[in-house]
Amino acid sequence: VKVDGRPYRSIWRADDGRAALIVDQTLLPHEFRVVRLETLEEAARAIADMQVRGAPLIGVTAAYGMALALLRDPSDAGVARAVSVLGATRPTAVNLHWALRQVEAAVSGVAPEARADTAFRLADRMAEEDVERNRALGAHGLEVLREAAEARRGEPVRVLTHCNAGWLATVDWGTATSPVYQAWDAGIPLHVWVDETRPRLQGARLTAWEMAGLGVPHRVVPDGAAAWLMRTGQVDLVIVGTDRTTAAGDVANKIGTYPLALAASDNGVPFFVAAPSPSIDWELSDGADIPIEERAAEEVTEVQGADPDGSVRAVRIANPGSDAANFAFDVTPARLVTGIVTERGVCAATREGLAALFREPGAGEEPPEGR
Ligand code: MRU
Repeated sequence: VKVDGRPYRSIWRADDGRAALIVDQTLLPHEFRVVRLETLEEAARAIADMQVRGAPLIGVTAAYGMALALLRDPSDAGVARAVSVLGATRPTAVNLHWALRQVEAAVSGVAPEARADTAFRLADRMAEEDVERNRALGAHGLEVLREAAEARRGEPVRVLTHCNAGWLATVDWGTATSPVYQAWDAGIPLHVWVDETRPRLQGARLTAWEMAGLGVPHRVVPDGAAAWLMRTGQVDLVIVGTDRTTAAGDVANKIGTYPLALAASDNGVPFFVAAPSPSIDWELSDGADIPIEERAAEEVTEVQGADPDGSVRAVRIANPGSDAANFAFDVTPARLVTGIVTERGVCAATREGLAALFREPGAGEEPPEGR
């Protein structure tokens, strides 16, 4: 995408080849700052502190983190340590482990002095593939929006989304936003309801910033408004991203996604999940087995914003002395999901639906994408 007329991705390799550059998402929308990651520790901190976030971007950042680690310690012990440090950053997004496994496998048969280069080249390729995968996913999702547009007969299609499954959460395009951006480019009239997404406000801060930057009509709503919007006929479809979707179609995504699916089901509103294949955990069937990240209570008891002079600071909003619980994700059961939008097409949220898209005929039980 373009930011102020300049093309950007959410992560890219520095010109000197020895660092990864990211957009610091903790500062948006108040400040657009590019940050240079040079070490394993910096990459791990960027993921844990959510300077980078969103399942696909977490995966690609982890791959660059492996390369940065191997620049300094390319031994077998160095590989194992990097996998363990990066693997401990955020537990829910399966893309993290998907990426780490791939880099670990790629460097295992390589001489130590060539390992960093191998890892960097793989990370570059993973970034390119992420862009292409989410472009393809968006082209399939575009057809869903086209159908909705026909039913609306020229009136804007009203899409509701949660959190940020946008270009900032991937390398480019986004997952849930890719169909939206492609539909907008194709001239389909749209209006996006952006759930603000407590507690970290990825919707209000990041999705709204993306939509504004691309000129897509949108309004931010408090999370609690979504069910009412559906009840009163103001939402044509919901589309969200996922951090981990099981082989049977249960969907882990940002906390607050499950109540959206319940409200959608009660009101006959289609509920779609945009899931690129690295976000599918072929080893799990039951969503109850997905690890749910718990984060610091301060993310709930405090809120960060900008003063009128532009300086960003956090203020306490909860009762002083009251503790808070901060479950970062929830799991929506497959039965509440209308369809899963992937890079290979749209399918039912069932084992059969996913398998039909991803298991080549005669491929037996072998999951796709080298796993
Ligand atoms: O905690 P975050 O901001 O990393 O959570 C992000 C989400 O929940 C996204 O919906 C998900 O990662 C899909 S991103 C394309």
